Amino acid sequence: MRAFIGRLGLLFAFVVAGNSIVCEVCRSWDGIYCSGQLETCGKSVKSCQISISELRGEHEKPIYNVFKNCSEPAAKSAVYRVAMVGTSYQKVVHVCREDGCNKLDLQFQPNNSTLNGVKCPSCYAKDETSCEMEDIINCTGDMTRCIFVAATFRLTEGPPFRIAYKACANLKNIGQFPVVPTETIHGITALKLNEGL
Ligand SMILES: *[C@@H]1O[C@H](CO)[C@@H](O)[C@H](O)[C@H]1NC(C)=O
Ligand SMILES: *[C@@H]1O[C@H](CO)[C@@H](O)[C@H](O)[C@H]1NC(C)=O
Ligand SMILES: *[C@@H]1O[C@H](CO)[C@@H](O)[C@H](O)[C@H]1NC(C)=O
Ligand SMILES: *[C@@H]1O[C@H](CO)[C@@H](O)[C@H](O)[C@H]1NC(C)=O
Repeated sequence: MRAFIGRLGLLFAFVVAGNSIVCEVCRSWDGIYCSGQLETCGKSVKSCQISISELRGEHEKPIYNVFKNCSEPAAKSAVYRVAMVGTSYQKVVHVCREDGCNKLDLQFQPNNSTLNGVKCPSCYAKDETSCEMEDIINCTGDMTRCIFVAATFRLTEGPPFRIAYKACANLKNIGQFPVVPTETIHGITALKLNEGL
């Protein structure tokens, strides 16, 4: 009997170990496509993640990145979009629970430039934890709330830095704000969502 239970325990341990999810792992600071090896995640990880982001400034080339990996504890699927005067940023995060399920390409949704009647304070400050309202921006598409974010961001291969911004945002509640990959955003000191002006 004891031997039987012992064997059952062994079998159980094997099944649990065999349960580790496998995810594609790659990154690029220069585009929204990458491909890499499938890697076995840590035992506590139950899902894979992929995220893409795009920063568009008025006079600069857009900045893109993509991350695929085992999912981080705080990861959940999200479509995040904000617009400030002269600048827009979007991030799409996809979290999924099957082996290799992040082995795909994500796309951004098409831009909707229709005014929606909401107006938000718009400002941006580097190396600051707040910014003063400099402009009012007319929000477009599904960006019907105003957001204030201060955090440490890493958007390029260069070093991360603190940014504070106020913008139109597409979130319905602040819980939808994407906090992964932590390599691209951490140290959040302000995160507020308001009705428009
Ligand atoms: C994937 O995640 C692991 C664990 O957090 C990290 O050490 C590694 O650098 C990540 N790989 C890529 C390519 O982002
Ligand atoms: C989307 O349209 C708005 C309004 O025309 C524009 O300001 C913004 O730059 C556009 N964003 C992208 C990503 O094309
Ligand atoms: C926003 O829309 C108003 C009209 O509703 C217009 O007067 C104003 O110039 C617009 N502001 C910007 C920054 O485009
Ligand atoms: C674009 O945004 C406007 C204003 O929010 C909305 O009425 C319209 O349905 C959107 N169009 C598409 C194609 O999503």
